[in-house]
Parts: sequence; C-alpha cells; structure tokens
Amino acid sequence: MDTRIDSSSSLAATAADTIAISNVNLSLGTGAARVHILKDISLRVASGETIGLIGPSGSGKSTLLMVMAGLERPDSGEVVVSGTPFNALDEDALARFRGRQVGIVFQSFHLIPTMTALENVAVPLELAGNPDAARRATQELQSVGLGDRLHHYPTQLSGGEQQRVALARALAPDPAILVADEPTGNLDEATGKQIVDLLFSKHAERGMTLVLVTHDSSLAHRCDRVIRLRSGRIDTQSASA
Ligand SMILES: Nc1ncnc2c1ncn2[C@@H]1O[C@H](COP(=O)(O)OP(=O)(O)OP(=O)(O)O)[C@@H](O)[C@H]1O
Ligand SMILES: [Mg+2]
Repeated sequence: MDTRIDSSSSLAATAADTIAISNVNLSLGTGAARVHILKDISLRVASGETIGLIGPSGSGKSTLLMVMAGLERPDSGEVVVSGTPFNALDEDALARFRGRQVGIVFQSFHLIPTMTALENVAVPLELAGNPDAARRATQELQSVGLGDRLHHYPTQLSGGEQQRVALARALAPDPAILVADEPTGNLDEATGKQIVDLLFSKHAERGMTLVLVTHDSSLAHRCDRVIRLRSGRIDTQSASA
C-alpha cells in the first residue's frame, strides 16, 4: 500500500472522516512545570484508515493519542470523532462515548490484576450495558487465540498473551477507532510481530480506523499514512522515517 508522510492538515474535512482534529493546543502541568505539549495540531483521518504516528521521545505522541481518545481535553481547538464533537459532551457522556467508539491499547497492557482474562474483557461490556457480555468476551478472546486461557489471571499469562487480552478488550465493543500506544514496546521482537500481525488482521476484518504510535519506522510504514510529530507539532517536512 502507498505510504505517504503527510500532515494532511490542508485536506478538507469530509463526512468520511472518523477523526477530525482542528487547531488543538494542550498544556499540562502547573507553574514552572507547565509544558505546552500540543501546538496547533490539525489532522483528519478517514474512516478505516491506518495511521503510523512517529516522532522523538517527548514530541507529544501519547498526548495526541489521549486527545483523540477523549482522555485529555485540549485547552483550545476541536476534536470530532465519528461526527461527535467532544466539546459538546460532559465527562459522563464522553466516557460513555469512549466506551462504545474508542478502543485503547497501551504498551503496559493495563489489565486488572484481580480479574481473569474473561473478566477483563467482559466487565467493561457489562458496565456498558451489554446483556451478552460473557459470550461476546469469550468470542473476542477466542478470536485472538486465547480460547484456552479464559480463566487465567494476568500474572499467569505471558506478555504477548496479556497484550492479546488487552486487544480483545479494546475490540469487544466494536469501536470505530482503535488507538494503540507502542503496543509492542514491552514485548520481544517475535512476540511483538505477532501482536502487530494480529492488529492488522483485525483491521482487515473489521475496518476500524487505526492510529498506531510506534518508535519502529518499518512498523509505521505498514500503515496507509505516516505522521511525524516534532516538539508538539505535525512535521510537514517530508522526513524519511
Ligand atoms: N502531566 C504532565 N505534566 C507536564 N508535562 C507532561 C505531562 N505529561 C506529559 N508531559 C510532557 O509532555 C511532553 C510530551 O509527552 P508524551 O508522553 O506525549 O510524549 P511521547 O511522544 O509519547 O514520548 P515517548 O516516545 O517517550 O513515549 C513531554 O515533554 C512530557 O514530559
Ligand atoms: Mg509516549
């Protein structure tokens, strides 16, 4: 597939955009520790598109992902996901929206240690009101190859297996977008490749929009488009990744 490095900020928004971010600024921290992290970021991602988000450590990749996921609110600018402007939602409505529309996978898995694999996937579905949570969670775990690990706790699973559970949890509500922040960062190379292959096969199967933060430029280039951040801005120079 053709991979471009492109800010895409100049492209006009269309109804096919799943993510539309306009002129977003975000500072975090207080007093002398306050840092202007995201600087006038504009970005549009089409429905079903895969984006590789790269850039140096500290350039704002994770923060931008959190903004897309509705976990951080920008100080200014607009974030619209699947046609819903986050500015229009209060915290409860945003949390509900996130639960249905946004899947998130982290480097460090973030599973709940006191819950089995099945519970880690089923409980969020139950909380979202899904009457069929256990069956759905079982199917999802089977589909990532963990049908025989349903009742294992996270400490009884390998890193790669834990990340599969995290992926099953993220995908179980059938979200419109999946954001993954260095999902292979805690895994050895072979296991990381299996997780990435699984991620792309899930994308091929479901067609969700995928934003993948990675330090691995060959992995980023498996995506339709590569976006590079530099000091909190989208790098519009066509840098070689
Ligand atoms: N809560 C916070 N308060 C103050 N500064 C913060 C906060 N969170 C992040 N930062 C700063 O914002 C900048 C961007 O952080 P971010 O985690 O988004 O970078 P990143 O590109 O994901 O880096 P890495 O590749 O190391 O994960 C960093 O300089 C970081 O120190
Ligand atoms: Mg990061």
